[in-house]
Amino acid sequence: MAPVDPHSYTDGAHPVVSHAALAFYLDFAASTIHASALLTLSAPHSGDLLLDTRALAVHSASTAADPPDPIPFSLAAAPDPVLGSALTLTLPPDTTSFRLTFSTSPAASALQWLAPPQTASGHPFVFSQCQSIHARSIFPCHDTPAARITFSLLLNVPSQLSAVAAARHVARRDPLPSDHRGACDDELWCAPGRIVEEFQMEQSVPPYLFAFAVGGIGFRDLGPRTRVYAEGGDKVLDEAAREFAGVEEMVKVGESLFGPYEWERFDLLVLPPSFPYGGMENPRMVFLTPTVIKGDAAGAQVVAHELAHSWTGNLITNKTNEDFWLNEGFTTYAERRIVEVVQGEERAALNMGIGWRGLNRMMERFKDNMEFTKLKPKMAGIDPDDVYSEVPYEKGFQFLWRIERQIGRPAFDEFLKKYIATFKFQSIDTETFLEFLKKNVPGIENQIDLQLWIEGTGIPPDAMEPDSATYKKICALAAEFKSGKLPSEDEVADWSGQEWELYLENLPTDVEASQVTALDERYKLSESRDYEVKVAFLQLAIPTGCKCYFNEVEKCLKQVGRMKYLRPLYSSLAKCSSEEKMLAQRIFSEAQEFYHPIARSVAEAILSKHS
Ligand code: BES
Ligand code: ZN
Repeated sequence: MAPVDPHSYTDGAHPVVSHAALAFYLDFAASTIHASALLTLSAPHSGDLLLDTRALAVHSASTAADPPDPIPFSLAAAPDPVLGSALTLTLPPDTTSFRLTFSTSPAASALQWLAPPQTASGHPFVFSQCQSIHARSIFPCHDTPAARITFSLLLNVPSQLSAVAAARHVARRDPLPSDHRGACDDELWCAPGRIVEEFQMEQSVPPYLFAFAVGGIGFRDLGPRTRVYAEGGDKVLDEAAREFAGVEEMVKVGESLFGPYEWERFDLLVLPPSFPYGGMENPRMVFLTPTVIKGDAAGAQVVAHELAHSWTGNLITNKTNEDFWLNEGFTTYAERRIVEVVQGEERAALNMGIGWRGLNRMMERFKDNMEFTKLKPKMAGIDPDDVYSEVPYEKGFQFLWRIERQIGRPAFDEFLKKYIATFKFQSIDTETFLEFLKKNVPGIENQIDLQLWIEGTGIPPDAMEPDSATYKKICALAAEFKSGKLPSEDEVADWSGQEWELYLENLPTDVEASQVTALDERYKLSESRDYEVKVAFLQLAIPTGCKCYFNEVEKCLKQVGRMKYLRPLYSSLAKCSSEEKMLAQRIFSEAQEFYHPIARSVAEAILSKHS
């Protein structure tokens, strides 16, 4: 056994699946997918082959021949809590492709099924979120970013719904009996009122970028290669189209900085409020939380980030989750370069400042577990969802910014473009990056302590706080709060959400309830429509013991399932007195049905840790 990734059963001594032909019958009433997969290997193989699964019921395995021969298989009885269950197939000599039929569980960790009363359209809705290791709960696969696949996908859905996927849309058409390859029987597949949405992904992607959504979804065109999709009718679509009007421009900026955009289309899907992230960089079809639509074009930062992944993450992918900073650190750097062009240097510096605070907060969060302050942490036995943090983003950003300062921007830009062109459509590790860096920037190892940056804990001494007038002014105002000074109306007159966020996150954490309420009375932060502001404020207010915000906390936790908000709010409540703890438990028991399975288990873990 030659493991390639601590988060996968993939055996490095065997070939990997390089293409998957998937046929999915979506049963909304049972929150289940009945599926078949025709999997093709990168080289012929005989004997044992291991695939990752989680909570899948595997019905059959057979050869691709006609008629097919059964293939012996076994599914590990007791799932590993992090990895799931290995599926072991015993392939006949020189097998290049084989077929599986299987069904997902209603509790599949990658899928959220929403019933009509939970959606804006009154239709059911389902969406996937596979990063980091949830693709295996949808189909058996080598669920490691080290292995890339192309795929075709047939989604058989009720005809009043439409489907989108992170792939090229080929057709919306009637189901054919020859489509399903045993996913279900002909009668079910071809029943009246069903439709097939057909997709193709010809560019190879890691399994965590497999994504689709089905529901009462409409769209608006934004530009020649950009379109926004959303549930919820004309008003929502018009609002979304206004918010994202500048997207084509942004893609052009990305191309000028990092080289050609390789994915043809850059479409956006605005998800229901339970979407657990701000954004997810699914190729050709970025998934976004509806909380980015604020009516003030602030969603641009999240879009810039997910767009930046088109180069860093999707073209060049981290080999395992231990190299996650290669995805997120590079993307955070690239995001800020895009923001700098589109929104100006001060805005980019503000984002760096928010990131700098976040990085410092993470040192506190991981003070008893400094491993996760490393750029390249050891992840064996660790669920990536449990240790998700700003470290790979912000320490990774700081590392790249440090290199930029050392060699100058023109040289760094040239280096970046060459790095992307060299490794595109590959999955690489940190060592490969370092080798490339040393080869292309001779002597860099004598100027920067590369080893300290990669293997060291904490924040290296040559990291840097951004140097910008707006950033410094806001930090200075925040420092004055302790002595009782609130910012004046004049001082905040031109503040948008991000200025407030930076201000609130820089306030001392041991403030009095009376100070917090005074701030809120003046600026109504607890009722802000901007969740970044609202949550930053509530996070400050909860530890003061002030009960007057319980109502806003409850509304927030029940309206939005984005983990960036659930984590701090549940953690703050759980660390307080028994009254707050009980509130947290009650809210969770009432809201958990609305959360995505990943968010549900993260919230559950926070509450049980402090119970
Ligand atoms: N790829 C991430 C989201 C993610 C990371 C999902 C790990 C699952 C596991 C995405 O690109 C991201 O970083 N989103 C941020 C956006 C922000 C940095 C602008 C988010 O969701 O907050
Ligand atoms: Zn990202």
